[in-house]
Amino acid sequence: MNHKVAIIGCGPSGITALKNLLDQGIEAVAFDRNQDVGGNWIYSEDESHSSVFETTHIISSKTLSQYEDFTFDDFDPEVADYPSHDELRKYFQAYARHFGLYPYIRFGTMILHCEWIDANTWEITTEKDGQKQTERFTHLVVANGHHWKPRYPNYPGEFTGEFLHSHNFKKAEPFRGKRVLVIGGGNSACDVAVETSRVSEMTAISWRRGYRIVPKFIFGMPSDKVAERSKWIPPRIRMFLNSILLRVIIGKNEAYGLRPPTEPFGATHPTINDELLHKIRHGKVKPRLDIKRFEGKKVIFEDGKEEEYDSIVACTGYWLSHPFFDKDFIDYSNGPVPLYLKMFHPSITNLYFIGMFQPLGCIWPGAELQSKLMAQELIGNWKRPENIEELCEKEVKNPDYKQINTPRHTITVDFHRFIQDLKKQLPKNYISKNPVPQLINQQEV
Ligand SMILES: Cc1cc2nc3c(=O)[nH]c(=O)nc-3n(C[C@H](O)[C@H](O)[C@H](O)COP(=O)(O)OP(=O)(O)OC[C@H]3O[C@@H](n4cnc5c(N)ncnc54)[C@H](O)[C@@H]3O)c2cc1C
Ligand SMILES: NC(=O)c1ccc[n+]([C@@H]2O[C@H](COP(=O)([O-])OP(=O)(O)OC[C@H]3O[C@@H](n4cnc5c(N)ncnc54)[C@H](OP(=O)(O)O)[C@@H]3O)[C@@H](O)[C@H]2O)c1
Repeated sequence: MNHKVAIIGCGPSGITALKNLLDQGIEAVAFDRNQDVGGNWIYSEDESHSSVFETTHIISSKTLSQYEDFTFDDFDPEVADYPSHDELRKYFQAYARHFGLYPYIRFGTMILHCEWIDANTWEITTEKDGQKQTERFTHLVVANGHHWKPRYPNYPGEFTGEFLHSHNFKKAEPFRGKRVLVIGGGNSACDVAVETSRVSEMTAISWRRGYRIVPKFIFGMPSDKVAERSKWIPPRIRMFLNSILLRVIIGKNEAYGLRPPTEPFGATHPTINDELLHKIRHGKVKPRLDIKRFEGKKVIFEDGKEEEYDSIVACTGYWLSHPFFDKDFIDYSNGPVPLYLKMFHPSITNLYFIGMFQPLGCIWPGAELQSKLMAQELIGNWKRPENIEELCEKEVKNPDYKQINTPRHTITVDFHRFIQDLKKQLPKNYISKNPVPQLINQQEV
């Protein structure tokens, strides 16, 4: 059978999907609403797909945040341990250039609707420059990202100051001289609080539970490189050991006026930040409890404290969203997400999800391996297990970590275990550093 694969998205996941399909001689076209490769890593001060801000640096270190087919050494050996968003954008664009992917991408094209017809057919409706078009493909690859649709919190009362989500936070300057309240304990919240505290009159951070703040460096090494040394230990025991190490290094949360964590390490997605604790102890960021209600510009907290704020930045995470599917066809927005290896649907055999998992580490190394496995299946070198439905259920019921039941925790994987599980399915010589065979002329895409 001749395949003709459509890929939604040219972020870090979509480009590696495209590369690995073309590498195996499979016909593929990738679509992106943007004008270039990079997805979330194309910073823009205007509203866009991207949720990074002016000062965002990655939170996993470079040797654990690279494609094996095109490492940071292949790109620029001088890249720092934790590259900035702009270095990452350049890295992804260099990847696409190096492998010759650009002729296979339709930019400025929005995927509006994907209709599953049968096991060999998808009907895909796109829109470019106001023109709609419907085309048939044999397979569909979903790589549309999962950090772009803001999830807003709800509180009783009305806040009459400025209220925005971290998706729309671009830089600190507009908050100069203001009283700012940041909501959340994830990586966005801690980064945003640190940034606004540089210019604000006052910045506070409201946590609805306790979190452990992991520094970016331990013993002079990136902390994920230190943690990597214990990757052979089962995740739950490893996390216990990590929590002890962290306690020794930074002490108790109470020492910073922060609420203590009540769950084991790994029960919430880790927050990696070098500056928050420093800012708190320098009086630049004030810890606050959960919000009880609003009254005009006044915020009333759980402990009865009342304060006025000019701006609130809700760093409360993102919806898992696939707006191009009918809701009664596929809707993972409220979990669970029963996909084998977070990519194979239990019954729809011509559908793949790439990069739709949340590692305690970086996304694209796993997305690269998922893409290679997809290509192996399409060329007939790998067969999905017959008990795939059972395996999907098993992944949902036995996650690598027992996490708290909040929306952001439906697709978590242990980075090292996930990479290992994917590699087990691949041939030994899976690394391929050559440009893809040029199968078509640019005009044909
Ligand atoms: C502030 C911030 C910092 C982050 N830091 C890290 C980090 O340090 N490490 C890490 O691993 N992850 C991090 N992430 C997570 C981030 O989602 C991933 O790094 C990465 O961008 C995922 O790649 P992706 O290709 O799956 O998705 P994206 O990068 O989101 O790319 C998806 C692409 O699909 C396109 N698209 C979506 N829908 C459509 C459609 N309907 N039609 C056409 N095109 C469409 C978009 O335009 C986009 O180009 C961070 C996220 C945020 C918000
Ligand atoms: N520098 C970086 O590289 C960087 C920066 C930002 C983000 N990121 C990545 O981007 C992704 C998204 O991160 P994120 O921080 O934006 O979102 P997130 O990880 O989903 O965190 C959301 C935070 O908001 C809290 N929250 C959610 N709803 C709430 C409510 N109604 N009231 C109060 N608190 C609420 C969550 O609490 P619970 O714990 O209860 O769920 C959590 O603390 C993650 O993968 C993250 O690692 C990376």
